[in-house]
Amino acid sequence: METAAVFSTAATVATVATVAGRANGGLRYPLLSFPPPNNNKFRNQLRFTSLNSSTTYGNVNARAIEVASSLSVPSETVDLNWDNLGFGLVHTDYMYTMKCSLGESFTKGELVPFGNIEINPSAGVLNYGQGLFEGLKAYRKEDGNILLFRPEENAKRMMAGAERMCMPSPSVDQFLQAVKATVLANERWIPPPGKGSLYIRPLLMGSGSVLGLAPAPEYTFLVYVSPVGNYFKEGLSPINLVVETEMHRATPGGTGGVKTIGNYAAVLKAQGAAKAKGYSDVLYLDSTHKKYLEEVSSCNIFVVKGNTISTPDIKGTILPGITRKSIIDVARDQGFEVFEKPVTVDELLDADEVFCTGTAVVVSPVGSITYLGKRVTYGNTGVGLVSQQLYSGLTRLQMGLADDKMGWIVELK
Ligand SMILES: Cc1ncc(COP(=O)(O)O)c(C=O)c1O
Repeated sequence: METAAVFSTAATVATVATVAGRANGGLRYPLLSFPPPNNNKFRNQLRFTSLNSSTTYGNVNARAIEVASSLSVPSETVDLNWDNLGFGLVHTDYMYTMKCSLGESFTKGELVPFGNIEINPSAGVLNYGQGLFEGLKAYRKEDGNILLFRPEENAKRMMAGAERMCMPSPSVDQFLQAVKATVLANERWIPPPGKGSLYIRPLLMGSGSVLGLAPAPEYTFLVYVSPVGNYFKEGLSPINLVVETEMHRATPGGTGGVKTIGNYAAVLKAQGAAKAKGYSDVLYLDSTHKKYLEEVSSCNIFVVKGNTISTPDIKGTILPGITRKSIIDVARDQGFEVFEKPVTVDELLDADEVFCTGTAVVVSPVGSITYLGKRVTYGNTGVGLVSQQLYSGLTRLQMGLADDKMGWIVELK
C-alpha cells in the first residue's frame, strides 16, 4: 500500500486504502488495476475503515471527491462497443451505499465494488414497496471534463418522495457527493463524447425487516451507474404511442407524483400489451375524466401547436420531470409560448407536433398516436422541427457544447 486516501459523506469520515502505481510512468492506477470487484482480496482492499480522530477536515465534501478521483483511471475508458450502447445494464466497478435507521439521519457512506446486495426476505422494500429511485446522467466532454445536469433537482425530488413514502432521505449535499463519488470512481465507463452517457441510478429503500405493515426500521441509499445509449430503440426517430383508456398509472391522492418503484411495476401490463401490438409505449389519461393527458410510462409529454407548446400541469399524478422543467425554460428562451395546463386528448390529436421528455429519452419525437383505434400521425414520420430544435438546445447544454447561462451544469473535474 502506498497511499491512504480519505473519503467521507458528512460528519463521519472514513479511509480507503489505495494502491498507487506511481512506478507505472507516474500514472495513478489505484484500485482499478486489481482483478474484478468480485474478487475477495480486492473487496478487502477496498473496504473503508474508520479514520483516526486526530485528522480534521474543513471540507469533507471536497475530500470525498478528491478520493473518488484518486480511485479512477482518468485517461482510459473500458473497451466497449460504444456505438452499440442501448439502455441495458452494464456492470461497472463501484457502487455507493449508505444506511440509516428509521428516525435517524444518514451520516456515512462508502464506495464498494459493484455487485449483489444482501437483503432480508422481510425487508420493507420487498414486502411493501417502500422504495424510490432517481435517474440522471453524466456526460464526458471533449476536454475530458465530466458534466452532470441539474443533479440537485434529483436530490430534492428524492427528498420529496421520501417524505411521501415515510423514509429518511439523504440531504441534497449527501446525495450530490454520493453521485459525484460514484461517477468519478467509475470514470472509465463514461462513454466518449457523443457516444452516450453514464446513467446514474440512486435508490432509496426500506431495507430493514418488517412483518406487519409499517415503515421499515432501516434504510439503504445506494447509487450505481451504467453506460447507456438511446432509451427507445428508435433513437431520435419518432416513437408510436397508444393512449390507454382502461388502466391508469396514477390516481389523485396517490403516489404518481413521486418516483416510487410501485409506479413502474403498475405500468408493465399496459406497456407490455402496447409493445406486443408494435407501439413504443403507452400514454396515460387522468383517472377521473379520462380526457386529460398525464404522461407516458417513464416520460412527460408535450404538444406543439404553432408557436405554442403545452404540457400537462403538475398536480400530484404526474412526475415533475427535470427534463420537462428544463425544456420549458429552453423553449421559452427559444421564443415559444409555453403553457402548463390541463391538455385534452382533442388537443393532442390536433397538434402539429408531439414529443416526450425524460432523462433517459432526453427529447423523443412522437410520430403517431393511436386513440380508441384511430391513428393520427405527425410530421410526415420525420422528426418535427420543434422537437429537433429543443433536443439540440438541451443536449448541447448537457454535453457542454453551449453556454450554460442557466447554471444547470455541474462539472466534476
Ligand atoms: C413516470 C416518469 N415521468 C417522467 C419522467 C421524466 O423525468 P426526468 O425528466 O426527471 O427524467 C420519468 C423519468 O424519470 C418518469 O419515470
